[in-house]
Amino acid sequence: MTEPHEWSAEFTARAARRTAEPEPDWTHVSRLHPAVVRSVQKFQVGESGDGAHLIANAATVGDRDYETAIRLFVAEEQNHARMLAGILRSAGAQTKGAHWSDTVFVHLRRLMGLKLELMVLAIAEIVALRYYRALADGGGDDLLTDVSERILDDERHHVPFQCRRLNLAFDGIRAPARIFVKNAWRTLALGVVVVVAVDHGPALRACGVTRRSFVVDTMQLFDDAAATVFDGVLMRV
Ligand SMILES: [Fe+2]
Ligand SMILES: [Fe+2]
Repeated sequence: MTEPHEWSAEFTARAARRTAEPEPDWTHVSRLHPAVVRSVQKFQVGESGDGAHLIANAATVGDRDYETAIRLFVAEEQNHARMLAGILRSAGAQTKGAHWSDTVFVHLRRLMGLKLELMVLAIAEIVALRYYRALADGGGDDLLTDVSERILDDERHHVPFQCRRLNLAFDGIRAPARIFVKNAWRTLALGVVVVVAVDHGPALRACGVTRRSFVVDTMQLFDDAAATVFDGVLMRV
């Protein structure tokens, strides 16, 4: 049984901490690999949605605290977009308009109810865990590392947040259906992860990460997350 205020309390505390924290050093001049710039431009678009559809879907749950949490979650994602735009500016690069992969992703999510939307969103957040780790460790720029670590800190909270909701949503469905949904979700995740690995391969390579290891590592993170949804296993973060 979900306790009142359980969903939003952590987001509220994190927002207060963020306000008290100094901003990244925006006077820094970043020297980024051109492939990393192109890759960050695409991720910046992905992080910048207004979340209107997700907020509307969350309202259908009938839990005001969960709705508040989703609004705070969307604000954190918009803060990621803002910081990535700052990185691009520091490297003398522009932000970009919609990228095809983002357009596909947004359309896919809009076709869905909350449960499916969270499943697709969770895949993006798990991809982000491995992607920003690569940028933080191998991007070779202090500002990029700082921003990536801040985003990672949020994503390490977002993934269990989405998984907890999904765990509730799938509570009580019968074993054959659980197995089917889990396998379908994993197949979709693998497809997305392979597309990201191919599309962002040059940037990952510039950060010292092969496409193959990106896929293997990200699917391990996915399997850990899926276990928390379907097998009630506590998540390692
Ligand atoms: Fe994000
Ligand atoms: Fe996130």
